[in-house]
Amino acid sequence: MSKPTNVPWHTYAKFGGIKYVRIVVRSLHKLLLMREPVWKDISYFKSEAKKYPQFTKGYRHWSKYYILYKIVRKLKPRFVLECGSGISTAIIISALRENGGGLLVSLDESPEYGNVVRDIVGSEVETHISPSVEATYEGLTGTKYAQIPDYPYDFIFVDGPQTQTVDLDAFYVLEKNPIAKVLIDCRVATVRALKQRFGGLFNPWVNLGFINFHRK
Ligand SMILES: C[S@@+](CC[C@H](N)C(=O)[O-])C[C@H]1O[C@@H](n2cnc3c(N)ncnc32)[C@H](O)[C@@H]1O
Repeated sequence: MSKPTNVPWHTYAKFGGIKYVRIVVRSLHKLLLMREPVWKDISYFKSEAKKYPQFTKGYRHWSKYYILYKIVRKLKPRFVLECGSGISTAIIISALRENGGGLLVSLDESPEYGNVVRDIVGSEVETHISPSVEATYEGLTGTKYAQIPDYPYDFIFVDGPQTQTVDLDAFYVLEKNPIAKVLIDCRVATVRALKQRFGGLFNPWVNLGFINFHRK
């Protein structure tokens, strides 16, 4: 996006220029990922997904994939909840395998993606197909999966369900474990709502929200 003449440089740098910074940061993260053992699983997932016509999106969110991988390696969570299945499912499984254990529960609204992801990554993940529903949580209107399997999650990755408002799943999980860490992909309203209650930040350079990472 080139700078419109009526927009001051500092505003353009903050909002318009972010797009270019993200492209550079994303490329660096891809290079870093290629050096990790998880790259083998990423390549396998990509080649298998090509066999399914519904997998139309390319893979370019390398910052998300790299940071997700590094967080799971570092935190060594015992129970991970993933909201929104995809190549990220293969990445989390790979990191848990390297850690030596941990259960991944992956939720998706759509059987045509969720079931295929399970077929590609295998039985190491517990996949659930669940429709999304409108819900209200302490005055906050949003969207959640109808069924969230009950486990003591210590890490949540929010990348679904699709919403125009707020993804509420993390709020329900945090009721049971208020210090669970949450990584959120690009959902600014969800990050804002979680930040107000639990603390955290949105990093615009990688388009991710981090909740509870300041807690021990
Ligand atoms: C934001 S995507 C979630 C992607 C996943 N967390 C990832 O990072 O790989 C939201 C939805 O798109 C669908 N989806 C996943 N991978 C896809 C692909 N390669 N092409 C098209 N749709 C996909 C799934 O139904 C998923 O819940």
